[in-house]
Amino acid sequence: TTRLILDCDTGTDDAVAIMLAATHPDLELVGVTTVNGNVQVEYCTENTLRVLDHVGRSDVPVHEGMDRPIVRTDFPVPRDAALNPNSSIHGRELPLPPATTRKQDVGAVEFLVETYRRTTQEITLVPVGPLSNIAAALAVEPGLVDAVPEVVIMGGGNVKGNATPSAEFNIWADPEAAATVLAAGFRRVTLVPLDATHQALVSQAQCDELRALGTTAGEAAATLIERRITGYDSTQPMATTHSAPVHDALCVAYLLDRDVVDLHHRHVDVETAGRLTVGRTVMDLYFRGHQEPNCHVALGADPDRFFAILRDTFARAV
Ligand code: BDR
Ligand code: CA
Repeated sequence: TTRLILDCDTGTDDAVAIMLAATHPDLELVGVTTVNGNVQVEYCTENTLRVLDHVGRSDVPVHEGMDRPIVRTDFPVPRDAALNPNSSIHGRELPLPPATTRKQDVGAVEFLVETYRRTTQEITLVPVGPLSNIAAALAVEPGLVDAVPEVVIMGGGNVKGNATPSAEFNIWADPEAAATVLAAGFRRVTLVPLDATHQALVSQAQCDELRALGTTAGEAAATLIERRITGYDSTQPMATTHSAPVHDALCVAYLLDRDVVDLHHRHVDVETAGRLTVGRTVMDLYFRGHQEPNCHVALGADPDRFFAILRDTFARAV
């Protein structure tokens, strides 16, 4: 069993990641923390509760986190779906019934700090939104770097950007937080950027397969991924038509099958001052900077292995 905490800005692909983590028998989802990102944090929390409820896991505690970046106050983080560059891909509310459960009273940062202070078990940390909660938790408890066995981050891009021409959304939405987390000295950091997620596309035909599984999870995953395909078709069409990346779910899939991505141990830093490049992950692929590698970077992914994990998990789920 792999224990994990998911930190997310739920979002369609976050939702598929949550479903995978909540329903796979080999994963133990200790809690979900939410952060401002795809939509305002309050909607991320509501969406998270909806997803867990929908797949029969309303027992998983949800802790609401940061409603803004750690440093920037004037940064154009999405405060509403209308301002969000990804709005057509996510929408403000997920197409699932309203949640019947409530978030926890304890906030995300306190939950992270206290959980890792107390635990005697290994709990993998999987942030798939802007890194504001993780950086804030590090400021309270720097010992987090030793308490967390592995951090698996969805973010960044070497070849591509999606929020700006040079930056990926999660890193761009709180670049100072991302720079802090990458430089913190965690025991192991695995970074899953667009270079990998754009190789693990899910097609309309595969959505049909998920729906045909006849399970609640399969049906919901199909609906969520179809919303992504429609959004991508109209904003960033993929080379393979009628398909979309499901970024965040690839991070959870990696916990189940390490060969779903292709890792390279390299140094990665985040641009926080550039005029054109704020939020860009600078990956030292050819060891030009002579700095010790701080990251295992996924530069490729296996789409068949990825889809098999989605299909097999949702086939056995509720
Ligand atoms: C990331 O940005 C968000 O829109 C997605 O949920 C994913 O975490 C991809 O750039
Ligand atoms: Ca996300």
